[in-house]
Amino acid sequence: MPAADKLTVERVLVRARSGSYDALCGQGALDRAHREVQRLGPFTGVFLLSSPRVWKIWGRKLRTFSQGIGVQEIVLFDDREASKHLGTVESICRQLIRCGADRRALLLALGGGVVGDVAGFAAASYLRGVSLVHVPTTVVAQVDSAIGGKTGVNLPEGKNLVGAFYPPRLVLVDPRFLRTLPDREYRSGLYEVIKYGAIVDPALFSLLERDLDKLLRRDPRTLATVISRCIRAKARVVSCDERESGLREILNFGHTLAHALESLTRYRRYLHGEAVAWGMIFCAALSETSSLARSTEVARLVRLILRVGPLPPLPRVSAAELLSAMRADKKSRRGRVRFVLAHKIGKVSVGHEPTNAQVARAWVRLQEDRLLNWPKSLTSSPRWRA
Ligand SMILES: NC(=O)c1ccc[n+]([C@@H]2O[C@H](COP(=O)([O-])OP(=O)(O)OC[C@H]3O[C@@H](n4cnc5c(N)ncnc54)[C@H](O)[C@@H]3O)[C@@H](O)[C@H]2O)c1
Ligand SMILES: [Zn+2]
Repeated sequence: MPAADKLTVERVLVRARSGSYDALCGQGALDRAHREVQRLGPFTGVFLLSSPRVWKIWGRKLRTFSQGIGVQEIVLFDDREASKHLGTVESICRQLIRCGADRRALLLALGGGVVGDVAGFAAASYLRGVSLVHVPTTVVAQVDSAIGGKTGVNLPEGKNLVGAFYPPRLVLVDPRFLRTLPDREYRSGLYEVIKYGAIVDPALFSLLERDLDKLLRRDPRTLATVISRCIRAKARVVSCDERESGLREILNFGHTLAHALESLTRYRRYLHGEAVAWGMIFCAALSETSSLARSTEVARLVRLILRVGPLPPLPRVSAAELLSAMRADKKSRRGRVRFVLAHKIGKVSVGHEPTNAQVARAWVRLQEDRLLNWPKSLTSSPRWRA
């Protein structure tokens, strides 16, 4: 890996009932891996789990890292969403058995959210649980999936239906990985970054408003600052509510509509963050019409989201179809559609159940591009297809 420009690494403690852990964040976090992993040990073997794609880009650059840690075996598996299933977990576990991994083995998950979720679930179940270290390499994985202990895989019936809460022993977050992320993946992750500002961190939101252009250029210093702020935000939320009984629900801001959009378009049109972006805009419209938020606050949120780039267009479905897709989501309770809504930047509340008519009105408003009169070109530009 290329040398870090500036070795400032922050340590964020994530509290979990089943064991607290540190997230080390900043350029150079990876250079500390050897020492940090030694502190967790001893281990009988270190097994690196990654995908062929990530390993092809980063494998050679990480040779010193792997040697320093004493990686015994590299297990690669496909990280497409379609491969995030129990069969892949089984195949990983069988390879681990063949390599001689025992109960005191350490699994290192290097990759995006798919690698982290699959490797995490393998770590939770292999020999009833072995140590796990996350090394996330996408924006989503760095600010979201590697923090909080959720692991799991999909069933043909739906996403993330089998899994476990399984905290890692350590998370190593090095923003240098993001240099090689495809542009659309990168921008999609930024919507989840905006989400943290919108739900709990108004100072982060202001920083994003000021420095979004630098962030879009992947300026290393801005990235390191922003990512560690997101990690601190997520750590605060999950430390208070590990199992999603209350506070953690605020992390679902924008996700009620996002999940419906993803399922209505058969997971083909949007990257997850893009669907969340539409979801946050939708919530902004709902907040405004239910007089929860002032239009100036709503405008700030919508404007920042739209500055990140063009979004794939909304599907041409009726409000009734949309509502039924929302009711089918596993997070809806007894068929009631619940939303996290914004009061102002940095403050949201959970459990809102707007009427069907309110949802329909917001949906029509969104489809007709009437919110803020944003330029049509933002959604119809062919650029999003990249
Ligand atoms: N456990 C949780 O709390 C949680 C939270 C959010 C998302 N998720 C899950 O995460 C998954 C999505 O993760 P994601 O957005 O990170 O996408 P991903 O894991 O699908 O990765 C996206 C693509 O980028 C590639 N890639 C990864 N790192 C790269 C790098 N540094 N350079 C170049 N290419 C790279 C991958 O090979 C893949 O093709 C979903 O399955 C979702 O359910 C889990
Ligand atoms: Zn999300």
